[in-house]
Amino acid sequence: MNEDLRKQLGINEGKPNDWFETLYSRSDESGEGVPWANMAPHPLFSSWLKVHPLNGNGKKALVVGCGMGDDAIALENLGFKVTAFDVAESAIELCKKRFPNTTVNFVQGDLLAGIPGWKHQFDFVLEIFTIQALPPKYEAKLIQHVSDFVAPQGELMVITEVQKAKRTYDVGPPWLLNEDYVAKFENKGLSLKSLDKTNEPEMGDEIHLTIFEGS
Ligand SMILES: C[S@@+](CC[C@H](N)C(=O)[O-])C[C@H]1O[C@@H](n2cnc3c(N)ncnc32)[C@H](O)[C@@H]1O
Repeated sequence: MNEDLRKQLGINEGKPNDWFETLYSRSDESGEGVPWANMAPHPLFSSWLKVHPLNGNGKKALVVGCGMGDDAIALENLGFKVTAFDVAESAIELCKKRFPNTTVNFVQGDLLAGIPGWKHQFDFVLEIFTIQALPPKYEAKLIQHVSDFVAPQGELMVITEVQKAKRTYDVGPPWLLNEDYVAKFENKGLSLKSLDKTNEPEMGDEIHLTIFEGS
């Protein structure tokens, strides 16, 4: 992303959360102006579900950086009791407007700060493109905080773009991950269950759909 666009969006390494509120506050239920809004569950998540049907009955799911909310609704439809959070209050308001009758608990929350009350609380945690939306210097904290949510024997699904070049603040957003994110999650006590790669990335070299298991 060039410097002009970064300025327009208000990208600031020291205040990495702020531009998301600006962006969602300018949008509406149509998702216009939200570049990542599919207005449907993420296509890779949907395709995966067709092959690996999940039964969420009696289980709790968490959606990290839920954006416009569609992935959370997909999990609700599978029977999970779902919590979904985003740092942008305006995103949460849009989710509530779009899905007024949902049982999903849409709440504002900051992954960088971490949410201690949710430690090991969720049987299924879904993280799509949130870690890569924040500058590389926050990576260790974000990976720790996402890992913290996963219950023992629970599952974490990470969908992320991966680049071979080393992540640097100068190139982004998004700051696509390096393949070593897998080992970094493993270092937090999670075990790798599966890693599916597609060679049709939007920006990087690959898109990964990776599943980890909590210990
Ligand atoms: C690239 S978007 C992806 C949104 C959604 N997961 C999707 O796939 O459509 C990243 C999302 O993470 C949210 N986000 C950024 N920083 C966050 C933080 N510190 N805590 C929680 N959410 C955050 C943004 O507001 C945005 O909705």
